[in-house]
Amino acid sequence: MSSATTSVLFVCLGNICRSPLGEGIFAALAKERGLADHFHADSAGTAAYHTGEPPDSRSIAVAAAHGVRLTGYARQVTPRDFEHFDVIVAMDRSNLRSLKRLHQRSRRRAGTPADIVLMRDYDPGAHDADVPDPYYGGQDGFERVYRILERACGGLLDELSDTLRD
Ligand code: 4NP
Repeated sequence: MSSATTSVLFVCLGNICRSPLGEGIFAALAKERGLADHFHADSAGTAAYHTGEPPDSRSIAVAAAHGVRLTGYARQVTPRDFEHFDVIVAMDRSNLRSLKRLHQRSRRRAGTPADIVLMRDYDPGAHDADVPDPYYGGQDGFERVYRILERACGGLLDELSDTLRD
């Protein structure tokens, strides 16, 4: 297996609900599988509404209930992210469109290798293309998002681990 690190950036709108959960769950799964040294996870938002804030308390609570600790503060995606990350994972189709627009406009795009993908394409139980935005709902929505992300991060990690073995 290659010793190189694969860096993965999880992206939602505000970087306080879904993408910090994606980052935390992905890192926890990588650790569980003995692959912590092979992956680096981070998260960001397409919007700047919550820049500098910690994750939403409902995301922190659902993660803690599953033994996952969320770290980091919200930040907006920057053109540099397309250079620095191997894979950029959008939580929904709207985030995916925003990312592709930003990538197009970025003067740094020449030679940038980042793959921009949709989170639920890796969810074997997906009935919808999007990880639903739980911000305006209750705690149950965060539990649902957690279960979706657990499946989808597992699927993504399966796929990226296969690449490591190539
Ligand atoms: P996230 O959720 O994109 O999963 O972090 C949201 C957080 C904040 C807002 C919308 C969605 N907002 O409109 O402020």
